[in-house]
Amino acid sequence: MSETSPKLRAELEGIPTYKPGKPAAPGGPVAYKLSSNENPYPPLPGVLESVSAAVASFNRYPDMACTGLVNEIAERFGVPASHVATGTGSVGVAQQLVQSTAGPGDEVIYAWRSFEAYPIITRISGATPVQVPLTQGDVHDLDAMADAITERTRLIFVCNPNNPTGTVVKRAELERFLDRVPADVLVVLDEAYREFIRDPEVPDGCELYRERPNVCVLRTFSKAYGLAGLRVGFAIAHEPVAAALRKTAVPFGVSQLAQEAAIASLRAEDELFGRVGSLVCERTRVLEGLRAQGWTVPETQANFVWLRLGERTVDFAAACEQAGVVIRPFPGEGVRVTIGETEANDILLKAAEGFRKDM
Ligand SMILES: Cc1ncc(COP(=O)(O)O)c(C=O)c1O
Repeated sequence: MSETSPKLRAELEGIPTYKPGKPAAPGGPVAYKLSSNENPYPPLPGVLESVSAAVASFNRYPDMACTGLVNEIAERFGVPASHVATGTGSVGVAQQLVQSTAGPGDEVIYAWRSFEAYPIITRISGATPVQVPLTQGDVHDLDAMADAITERTRLIFVCNPNNPTGTVVKRAELERFLDRVPADVLVVLDEAYREFIRDPEVPDGCELYRERPNVCVLRTFSKAYGLAGLRVGFAIAHEPVAAALRKTAVPFGVSQLAQEAAIASLRAEDELFGRVGSLVCERTRVLEGLRAQGWTVPETQANFVWLRLGERTVDFAAACEQAGVVIRPFPGEGVRVTIGETEANDILLKAAEGFRKDM
C-alpha cells in the first residue's frame, strides 16, 4: 500500500470535534441524562402516530422542499413561505448559513463561550472565527461584538438565550447592536431555546427580522418540541439569504419522518408548551434551590443552568455522575445542567448540596 494519503484541506487541522453530551451510564444505579439539553418528555402519542404512518414509505425519498412543513411554519409565524428554509437540525441550517456567507479570508463573530458548533462550522468553511468573551456576568458583550466588526465580517451569531450560560440579551441592547451592524453583514439570532423564555424584555427574533433584511432567525424542533432525534430545524430569513439556504442544503436532508413529526408538533403546540411550562417551573425550583445552597447561578431563560466552577468543574461532574445524573462539564470553566425529570433535578440538587459541604 502506498504511504501517501489523500490530500485533505488544511483548514480541517485542529478543528475541535463536536462533543455530544455523555449518555447515562448503562447498568448504573439510576441514571439520568442532563448533558444535552434534551426534552425529558417522551414523544406525544399523536406525533408518534404521524411518524408511524410515514414509516411504511421510507423506501421513497422525502419531499426535498419540505413543502408541507414549510407552509405550516410560514402560517404559524406569519411569514412568506419563501422566507422559510429547513435543514437537518438547526445546527445543519447554521452550517448552511456559514457556507452561504463566509469562506477563506472572511470572519464570523460570536460570543464565547457559546454554542460549541460555531467554531467548528466556521472553520470547516475556511473562515476565521472571531470569539468575543462574555461579560463578567456571562452575558453577550454586544458592544464588544459590534467593535469587533471589520470589512471582512460576513456573519454574526447571537445565541439568545446563550448555550451554555442560559443568559439573554434584551430588546433595547439588541436593537442598539443591530443598528451598528452594516447592512451587508448577516446577523443570525440563534433561538434554539426561545420557547423557554419568560422574560418579556427578551425580543422574539421574528419581530426583529421583519424590519431588517440582514437578520435571520434560527429555530429548532429539538428542544421544546422534543424531536432531537429526528433532526429538523429551520431559519426564517429574507431573500436572498433564504434562497442561499435552499442552495446549500444537503438534498433530501430532512427525512419524511422528521417532516411529519414537525408538522404534527406544530399542531400540538398547546400540549407541548404545557410541558415547557412544567420545565420552566422546574427550572425555577432548581435555580432557587442552588442559590439557597449558596451557589452563584446566572439567571437562565433556557432549559438548563450554568455553574461557573472553574477548577472544580470536573470533580463536580464526577460527583453528579456518582449520584446518578450525567451533566455537561466544560473543564476549567463550569458545568451546564439540563432541567430534566423532577427526580433527576432532585438528585442534582442533593449532589450539589453534598459537594458544597465538602468544599
Ligand atoms: C444554541 C443552539 N443552537 C443550535 C443547536 C442545535 O440544535 P439542533 O441541531 O438539534 O436543532 C443547539 C443544540 O444544542 C443549541 O444549543
